[in-house]
Amino acid sequence: MTDDTNPIARVYNGANDMLTDRRSFMNGAAKLGLGGALLSYVGSDNVMAQEEDGMDEVTDIDILNYALTLEHLEANYYTEALEIYSEDDFEGFGSPGMETFSGGRPRYGTYQQYEKIRDHEVAHVETLSSVIEDLGGTPVEAAEYEFPYSSIQEFVELSATIEDVGVSAYAGAAPLIENDDLLAAALSIHSVEARHATYIRLQRERSIPFQAEDGAFDPARTMDEVIAIASQFIVSD
Ligand SMILES: [Fe+2]
Ligand SMILES: [Fe+2]
Repeated sequence: MTDDTNPIARVYNGANDMLTDRRSFMNGAAKLGLGGALLSYVGSDNVMAQEEDGMDEVTDIDILNYALTLEHLEANYYTEALEIYSEDDFEGFGSPGMETFSGGRPRYGTYQQYEKIRDHEVAHVETLSSVIEDLGGTPVEAAEYEFPYSSIQEFVELSATIEDVGVSAYAGAAPLIENDDLLAAALSIHSVEARHATYIRLQRERSIPFQAEDGAFDPARTMDEVIAIASQFIVSD
């Protein structure tokens, strides 16, 4: 097996260490010096201190805070765009994918679809925060963000990037969660993120959910890889 995006092949190839070792998942990013603001949110300082004390346990709370960090980013991203652009701006951009599905008569407006996505992200933030509190942890706060788009077209393109990062981040982090109930909750978010990604792909010019390079298996991203992308949008803590 040589397909690196195939999770079974990755195990056979011995290339899955970063995804199966909780400590290296969290500390690898610190070694790379990436995303200082992001790392401070997800508790890497705490992780490193624990390691020095001979305790290398990364908790489910750490992993949930990592997910919450990304959900804050997503929630702020859509909230901001829906404040900048009006319903007319969104409809002016067009929605070829939705028209394809509804015989040329869009059943739902583009703006309302993005409102729905925003509401999902806000719900993810609220739920993850309360679960972390219930577990005795401290939920990370939202940061200050700066998203590089200046048109609806660029917003949609960036949305695709952000959703793909979210999907791959959950795929990378979910296997590290020890509590089965929390794993089930993470998977229930993961599939919603995948639907966001699919809808946004339909928004793009090609208006198809699958690109030529898409295979039967999506890649999971390690924390290092996710931080390298997400930290571009975080300007302060
Ligand atoms: Fe989300
Ligand atoms: Fe999303």
